[in-house]
Amino acid sequence: SEEDLERHFEQVIARDQRIEPRDWMPEGYRNTMIRQIAQHAHSEIIGMQPEGNWITRAPSLRRKAILLAKVQDEAGHGLYLYSAAETLGTDRTDLTERLITGRQKYSSIFNYPTLSFADVGVIGWLVDGAAICNQVPLCRSSYGPYARAMIRICKEESFHQRQGYELLMTMMKGTAEQRELVQDAVNRWWWPSLMMFGPPDADSPNTARSMAWKIKRHTNDELRQRFVDMTVPQAEALGVGLPDPELKWNPARGHYDFGEIDWAEFKRVVSGDGPCNAERVAHRARTHSEGAWVREAAAAHAAKQRKEAEA
Ligand code: ACO
Repeated sequence: SEEDLERHFEQVIARDQRIEPRDWMPEGYRNTMIRQIAQHAHSEIIGMQPEGNWITRAPSLRRKAILLAKVQDEAGHGLYLYSAAETLGTDRTDLTERLITGRQKYSSIFNYPTLSFADVGVIGWLVDGAAICNQVPLCRSSYGPYARAMIRICKEESFHQRQGYELLMTMMKGTAEQRELVQDAVNRWWWPSLMMFGPPDADSPNTARSMAWKIKRHTNDELRQRFVDMTVPQAEALGVGLPDPELKWNPARGHYDFGEIDWAEFKRVVSGDGPCNAERVAHRARTHSEGAWVREAAAAHAAKQRKEAEA
């Protein structure tokens, strides 16, 4: 009966085991997983744009090879995650259509422009650093296909973070102008990176439910604090300042205190009115329609193979 199924589901969660695609799950759980995985997949795919912008202008063959590999990894993460979403009964074409018609979200962070090559380093260091902070606990998320996808994704994100930090170390050892470019990029990306973790816990409609279902393992504010604590010493080692006069070690709390995030800006960017939202979605819509012939050819080929197998 429905009650037995529900009891079994609750037991699997309580024992820290995984929910798998064919298992019974409450509709709310299914819809939350679809929402989070789709948003995550869209973020990876849209996230290719700000950095892809610099592939043709990378300053050396080595930097170009690294950047190409990284952007390709992001495509891979997106495809992985769309596959995980499909195990819940969705279809990736439908998800893409929801993205380009604004019915599904992607991370606010990718709506900011990349103005210099230092931005590539800062995205690796701060944006991928924040992504790791957020995603390592998701390797223990209760939905099996999502948790397993996250293991490989986190390994690749670590490489992305390291390449960013190494790029910045190189620039910081360079000319005064290079150091200025790094500082300017840090000033522009610091606050948006903190916004990646989502609204404060008190204003997060989904956290309590997702924690109870063990989809999320920590709250938005916990992960944001963890990121700040881990990043401040890295900034010191690099020799860059973080643009927050209130940032200060608090020995009583054992954490860094930091200033108030501009939540009005966060809401604006999430609701579609950030610096690059229109451009990002228009680009995605264009490449989706330009790729239609590839999807059609792949489907025709698959149909032909099926027919041959049946004959
Ligand atoms: N950008 C855009 N939307 C956001 C952001 C953000 N930075 N943070 C929260 N939101 C959205 C949520 O998706 C939710 O939207 P919805 O309910 O209308 O669908 C709403 O704001 C309220 O937020 P929460 O209640 O806190 O939502 P949730 O519990 O889903 O937590 C979080 C948000 C932390 C982003 C979570 O979904 C998550 O951990 N996702 C997986 C990681 C991810 O998607 N990363 C993408 C960027 S990292 C990268 O790809 C490099």
